[in-house]
Amino acid sequence: MNHKISFKKISTLFFAIFAPFLAKAQNPNWAQHIAPILYQNCTPCHINGGIAPFSLVGYTNAQGMASSIAGSVESKRMPPWPANTKYKRYAHERILSASEIESIKQWANNNAPSGNLNLAPADPTPIVGSQIANATIKLKMPNYTVNTSSDLYRCFVLPTNIPQNEYVTALEVIPGNRQIVHHVLVFQDTSIIPVNLDNADSGPGYVAFGGTGSQTSQLIGVYVPGQEPFQFPNGFGAKLLKNTRIILQIHYPGGINSQLDSTKVYLKTTSNTLRQIFIEPILNHQNSNMTNGPLYIPANEIKTFNTKYSVNSKATIFSVAPHMHLIGRSIKAYGLTPTNDTIKFIDIPKWDFHWQRTYSFVKPVIVQPNDKLWGEARYDNTTANPYNPNNPPLAVSKGEGTADEMMLIYFWYAAYKPGDENIVVDTSTLKNISSTVLLKKLDAKLSPNPIQNYLDFNSNEPITEINIFTLEGQKVANYQLDRLKKGRIDISNKPVGMYIIELKSPEKSSRTKMLIE
Ligand code: HEC
Repeated sequence: MNHKISFKKISTLFFAIFAPFLAKAQNPNWAQHIAPILYQNCTPCHINGGIAPFSLVGYTNAQGMASSIAGSVESKRMPPWPANTKYKRYAHERILSASEIESIKQWANNNAPSGNLNLAPADPTPIVGSQIANATIKLKMPNYTVNTSSDLYRCFVLPTNIPQNEYVTALEVIPGNRQIVHHVLVFQDTSIIPVNLDNADSGPGYVAFGGTGSQTSQLIGVYVPGQEPFQFPNGFGAKLLKNTRIILQIHYPGGINSQLDSTKVYLKTTSNTLRQIFIEPILNHQNSNMTNGPLYIPANEIKTFNTKYSVNSKATIFSVAPHMHLIGRSIKAYGLTPTNDTIKFIDIPKWDFHWQRTYSFVKPVIVQPNDKLWGEARYDNTTANPYNPNNPPLAVSKGEGTADEMMLIYFWYAAYKPGDENIVVDTSTLKNISSTVLLKKLDAKLSPNPIQNYLDFNSNEPITEINIFTLEGQKVANYQLDRLKKGRIDISNKPVGMYIIELKSPEKSSRTKMLIE
């Protein structure tokens, strides 16, 4: 494709001309230059027991992955941050600067030198448990054993039993098992529908993909791995209704065998009246709001839909969170003033259902009566869309199922008061948070390296499971073992290449990168 080649040429030219002026380290080494970048941006997920398939803590791990690291940051696949930062910047962003990317590239091209290891930052310290102080409501879902070959979306209903309305000032989701909890949507609902759905499904919780299955559920929070607890700006809170139930909708990716999860949600609440933050899908797929609805995408077609909302009272907007399913490929939200000035909210050029999150503005965005808000979403219902749940494609319409679609853009907003434009959503607090490590590091000897046909393992712990992942994080093999401390597995059918070998005992785990020859 022509435009790709010319883009590459232009970017090479860019670096040839401008790279000398970028504030990058000369001859970057791991200890002084690379470790600080990885510990800030990668190890919240790439840590033993984290959601990513391998750890980037320590020199050996980073050195072994140097060229993949460089490739992933150059292509901007990592760290995952789907919003276009050329369009709009956010608080608590996790993205790398051009000079950080350049340093990583140079380091990798230069054989990934360690530098003086005494100068390296301390390994990220695992945080166990809660990060918000003085939570007033602590809820835990029942133990649930996850067994799933394909993506599983399951809702768990947790009664709050609060005797009066309260305001939530901070919300934290604490995954029970960080290796399998890919995202969590937190809803509240006072209706009986989620309870009925739960009763109709055996085991704890019930299956629901796009939401909770109840029209009256209100979103109050979103968790993705590595995301800091959500703190509402000072003086603001989300209203929690008397006797409401919290519903956690959890996404467990496919390929999970007999893993236990018991995720918690902690809320900091007050019975004082605060300025209320409303969390609503202001831009949505209701036919009456769409200019070219209904949301219906025939098989083998690519369609773009537009939806609008006319602002009727002055409002202070803190955050946005777009939501589509698997046919959705891009989504954008903006406002237009009566004089046609653009108010930018968000642009996600490559929608990825698996990395949806809340984006908070650094300063709130104020909208006024007569402003029009617009949402634009593109859907690709052809076989070219790798996430298409149907092959051959089938017609898709509005709904909550995996194979249905949605177009929702949630806004976190409050009624405007003078001075709101001066609020700064703090980017310094709650930023340097690394992940909880629930599983301790397991010591095991694996041999031979490179692996030829067989892998021998030897450990002090009883091994119950061995997994093999590609460097792209795809699980290609799973072996269930009967608490063996020593043993051999047959790998003769795996293609040659680098893999991540994961060993698990009931309490510990380890991941090692190895070559299969
Ligand atoms: C929010 C969690 C998260 C953060 C932060 C993160 N990763 Fe990842 N990373 C993952 C997951 C999960 C995978 C497995 C594949 C997938 O699901 O996309 C992965 C896969 C990878 C891969 C292999 C696949 C690929 O795309 O190349 C590399 C290399 C990688 N990450 C490097 C990094 C680096 C370097 C950083 C920091 C600059 C980083 N990651 C930050 C979660 C994360």
